[in-house]
Amino acid sequence: MYRSDPRPNRIDLGVGVYRDELGKTPVMSAVKRAEHELLEQQESKSYLGPEGDLGFVEGITQLVLGTPSSARTGRVAGVQSPGGTGALRLGFELVRRANPEARVLVGRPTWANHEPILSAVGLEVLPYRYFDPASQTVLFDELLGTLAAARPGDVVLLHGSCHNPTGADLSPDHWGEVARMVAERDLVPFIDVAYLGLGRGVEEDAAGLRRVIEAAPEALVSVSCSKSFGLYRERTGALLVAAPSSSLLEAARTNILAIARANYSMPPDHGAAVVRTILHDAALHGKWLEELSTMRSRIDGLRRRLCAALDEADVGFADLRSATGMFSMLPLGSGEIQRLREERGIYMAGDGRINVAGFATGQIEAFTAALQHARLWRRELASSETASDRKP
Ligand SMILES: Cc1ncc(COP(=O)(O)O)c(C=O)c1O
Repeated sequence: MYRSDPRPNRIDLGVGVYRDELGKTPVMSAVKRAEHELLEQQESKSYLGPEGDLGFVEGITQLVLGTPSSARTGRVAGVQSPGGTGALRLGFELVRRANPEARVLVGRPTWANHEPILSAVGLEVLPYRYFDPASQTVLFDELLGTLAAARPGDVVLLHGSCHNPTGADLSPDHWGEVARMVAERDLVPFIDVAYLGLGRGVEEDAAGLRRVIEAAPEALVSVSCSKSFGLYRERTGALLVAAPSSSLLEAARTNILAIARANYSMPPDHGAAVVRTILHDAALHGKWLEELSTMRSRIDGLRRRLCAALDEADVGFADLRSATGMFSMLPLGSGEIQRLREERGIYMAGDGRINVAGFATGQIEAFTAALQHARLWRRELASSETASDRKP
């Protein structure tokens, strides 16, 4: 709808990709340099195998989980996957093979593809309310209550950082509490890491999930390189699995490889070769971190400007400053979202999710002005409803 809208001042806050100040989703220069190196040095395009590029897997495991502590050494295995989506699918298929009775605790709202993947795999979903858009807060008590009522072996799906669609992450204390609960109740955390480094920084974004992985005997982590490396179309990701013994770890790994082989045989090579090249070269690694930090600063700056403009326009929303990453979820109804689109050319997801990185220069002011109108529509609607209530 956005593409076919002829209005020159239309605003696209719907699509979930990073955009620079020109509205482009650029190729990172660390990626370009790694691609040059690969072009020069790659000697074969022969098959790699269903586990993919082992150097990539090792690099990404270290990036996400950090230097292994003695408690974790030998407890984690990984395979490359076609994007984060592929890792989620592999991981849930493994759960289904290991324990078809397992239920998956899913905080709503969540990324629009989580539940379709679960339903395709055939696992039961146990939903709970994760977020309140009016106050912009995580409903942590609902999460804790759901964990307390779960059965041993149930899976807890969590977002590593930059929660999609709300931008509302667990606090360090929350992560600590989740780590304690999953260990105590014998639950299996499954942590989806799709925005590493785009919230507060790579180490900061990974800190919470690392506590949970250290505490849980069995755990799964899906990693997407789409956003953090800008490799969207290269379909680059990994599934990491932690198990309490080397024999269980080997059983998990063998099963994951069998699932991969039966689905797509082996993952695409190029994106993983790029990430491996970056992570194994100190200069390229530094360059990538620098570019990631530039992306993060742009998102932070836009968010601060948006919040200041919302305050000034007095639209009556709770503060969006505590959210991290690209997304926030606005407390708007479907009628308001539709009118913003039709009357103002503002496009956002149907649940009120906006991509803060979608703003081009000058669009924040137009957006907040439109939200002031949405507030008036709300008042009109409320007064017409009150008037109709008064009718006999
Ligand atoms: C929360 C979350 N998980 C996983 C993914 C999957 O990413 P991809 O399959 O493109 O690597 C996304 C993509 O938007 C996401 O937002």
